[in-house]
Amino acid sequence: MTQREEFIQIVQKYWDIAKLYEDLKIAKEKYAPHKRQGLSELEKEYLLGLLCGYNPTELASKICKQPSTINSDLSRSLYRYVEVLTGREENSLRSWQDVVCWLEPKYKRIENWDSAPNISNFYGRDRELATLEQWIVKEQCRLVAIIGIGGIGKTSLSVKLAREIKDKFQIIIWRSLRYTPRLEEIVGDLVSVVTNHQEFESLETLEARIENLLKFLRLRRCLIVLDGLETLMCTNKLAGEYHECYQEYGDFCREIGNSEHQSCLLLTSSEKSAEIALLEGKNSPVRSLKLEGLQLKAAKNILQVRNLVEEPEWVNLIQRYQGNPTYLKIVSTTIAEVFQGRTSEFFSKNSTYLGHISEILDQQFERLSDLEIRIIYKLATAQKTLNHPELQKRICLQVSTTKITDALQSLIRRCLIETSSVSSREKETVYTIQPLIRKYVINRFSNL
Ligand SMILES: Nc1ncnc2c1ncn2[C@@H]1O[C@H](COP(=O)(O)OP(=O)(O)O)[C@@H](O)[C@H]1O
Ligand SMILES: [Mg+2]
Repeated sequence: MTQREEFIQIVQKYWDIAKLYEDLKIAKEKYAPHKRQGLSELEKEYLLGLLCGYNPTELASKICKQPSTINSDLSRSLYRYVEVLTGREENSLRSWQDVVCWLEPKYKRIENWDSAPNISNFYGRDRELATLEQWIVKEQCRLVAIIGIGGIGKTSLSVKLAREIKDKFQIIIWRSLRYTPRLEEIVGDLVSVVTNHQEFESLETLEARIENLLKFLRLRRCLIVLDGLETLMCTNKLAGEYHECYQEYGDFCREIGNSEHQSCLLLTSSEKSAEIALLEGKNSPVRSLKLEGLQLKAAKNILQVRNLVEEPEWVNLIQRYQGNPTYLKIVSTTIAEVFQGRTSEFFSKNSTYLGHISEILDQQFERLSDLEIRIIYKLATAQKTLNHPELQKRICLQVSTTKITDALQSLIRRCLIETSSVSSREKETVYTIQPLIRKYVINRFSNL
């Protein structure tokens, strides 16, 4: 590896080098319009060396030059361009360290992963990763949501994606909303990170903090991931409504989606929020991806590491558990422990085993409104798929059509039911429920 390649390898991990070259080119043109355009190869090498933390004398020995030559080159070129670029007076740069110090706030990459989970055993999801990358990197969407039922892999996918595309951003921040922070707290934390802890005052108002954050989202390309938005939403109401204490999140997301900037807010949630549903669209900078189960090949990996045998049976198992990685982890652990890994024996005893899967579904069902519970129960116990009027008839004629429509929409936004067309009745929408959820609903609400 040449000296130059070694420098680049170190520097590009921490610095947005492409942007820095681009901006220094403009600064050079301003400072010395008669000189050849763009940084010369030597100027680039000096810059990279300084950003690696070598002083001019160390740099001289690294690239086999005299220290005096380097010092005089630097004071005729790079130091002056850096002054122009950072809006300083000519000759105000006193030490080589000023180069690093002055460039840092705008060009040093910041990565702050907080409690992001480890994703070393992540399988598949190539299609979803490609779609999200297309939206976020190529089409520069400003607000993107990954929506899916609990345990399907939203959190893991958000981390995998952010790690894969991090080089396209200057700042990456990943935060979990598990501890239900007020918006003020989260925005204060984000501002503190994007400004490198320089502009954070606890007395600032929420509006001032948001304004400050938006300023940085315009100035620098940031990817902010907020994981688990559903924890801020109401229970016993329709999907996607924020709890009283977290109403401002809706306005905040709307503002991020609507205002002009070069950054992206990526959300994960088990319910689609109202503002995303309203703003999203094919040509809009707001999108949402409904996350389904893993494909066969990826899901098989989960079973493989638990030493399940009888591979031909796995397809059936994966389909029955909808490729949901959490369900598959739970059920394959049971098969390994109770049936020595034999899937066929497990199937002969349990047609739709739920086990600890019930606890995961409990969390999701606690959020439902009474009407949603009645509707999903009717769908679960019906011997066939139901359309809107059939459903209404079974619920009770006193409940208005509008209320039923809203509750169906809410169940769809929670990924608990799906729409389809029955082939014999092409122009009619019917509502369907996955077998596993059907089993859960019947078990849990059989007293209804
Ligand atoms: N693509 C994947 N490959 C392997 N395991 C996965 C994958 N996605 C998720 N998992 C596993 O499934 C479980 C649930 O994933 P998580 O991302 O927390 O789901 P969610 O956020 O949707 O509730 C975790 O144990 C995680 O490691
Ligand atoms: Mg999650």
